[in-house]
Amino acid sequence: MRELRALEPDFWRAPSAHNTQPWTLTYAGDEAAVGWDPARALPISDPTGRDLRLSLGAFVECCLIVCADAGLGVAFRPDPGPQRVGFLYAAGRPYETPFTTADVRARGVNRGEYHAGRLPEELAATLEGTRRLPCRDLADLLHAADLHQFGDREVTRELRDWLRLTRRHRRYLLDGLSDRALALTRAQTLGLRASLALYPALRRLGLPRALAGASRGLLDYDGDVLVLVGPADGEVETGRLLMRHWLRLSALGYTTHPLSQIIDCAPTRRELAARLGVADPRTLLHVARVGRPKTAAAPSARLRT
Ligand SMILES: Cc1cc2nc3c(=O)[nH]c(=O)nc-3n(C[C@H](O)[C@H](O)[C@H](O)COP(=O)(O)O)c2cc1C
Repeated sequence: MRELRALEPDFWRAPSAHNTQPWTLTYAGDEAAVGWDPARALPISDPTGRDLRLSLGAFVECCLIVCADAGLGVAFRPDPGPQRVGFLYAAGRPYETPFTTADVRARGVNRGEYHAGRLPEELAATLEGTRRLPCRDLADLLHAADLHQFGDREVTRELRDWLRLTRRHRRYLLDGLSDRALALTRAQTLGLRASLALYPALRRLGLPRALAGASRGLLDYDGDVLVLVGPADGEVETGRLLMRHWLRLSALGYTTHPLSQIIDCAPTRRELAARLGVADPRTLLHVARVGRPKTAAAPSARLRT
């Protein structure tokens, strides 16, 4: 477990919604409980804890990969409890995985422009649990979801708490979403800062429409959106699967850009389920566009480095 602690900076490269890094590791004997810090959950925008549990699953997968690469025999035992999803424990041999610590370090979300082109069919077919749609087919749902998101005062306030739009922010290098990670130009950053500062006053005057309009053309190209479908009560395991998909794609030069707002908003979630022919909209667990990015993304901040 002492050796495990030394690897924490690489565990922390796991992805999490709003980059809250909600996970905690509590060491006791030859086990470490994987839990979360409620102050790093998103009670307004993630009221069911879906993204929290997906992020914790991604964290578990990162821990196992990084330990395996270091030659440590570590396994995970799910054991949900109060603010806990399970335990990492000393096992006879390392976790079997094709991925390495270098893969974990190299992965990152990319919110910039993507080259036109769909995923090869053979690759898409191996991404277990995913369904694929052309980007343009979801442009209307993304716009409706953005309007919904920015029209909600509390959701916008919670997002704002995790934005780091100036290097002078005291947590710029620690957590949250920076201007660089969001791929914003200087003018866009200033515009967003001003808009959010004036949000209470401008909400009724069409500001949500202006904010939602900013992502209008995001899906207007020949690309793919992946939707991850899985059991609504198995989000930690699905988070582990999501992490493996992202690492697989990343190793092949693809990146992803999650668009969770489409499934955060009940009407767009229902509509997406209907378009996919999925009976239960609650089983839509993650949505992201995927492709070859035109430029590399800035690495996101972490609490442990
Ligand atoms: C479950 C989950 C949901 C996410 N939803 C969104 C999203 O809706 N929009 C977005 O831009 N990024 C989303 N992200 C990406 C995170 O913001 C990103 O992983 C985090 O900022 C860390 O950056 P990195 O992945 O580049 O290391 C999501 C990530 C996870 C794990």
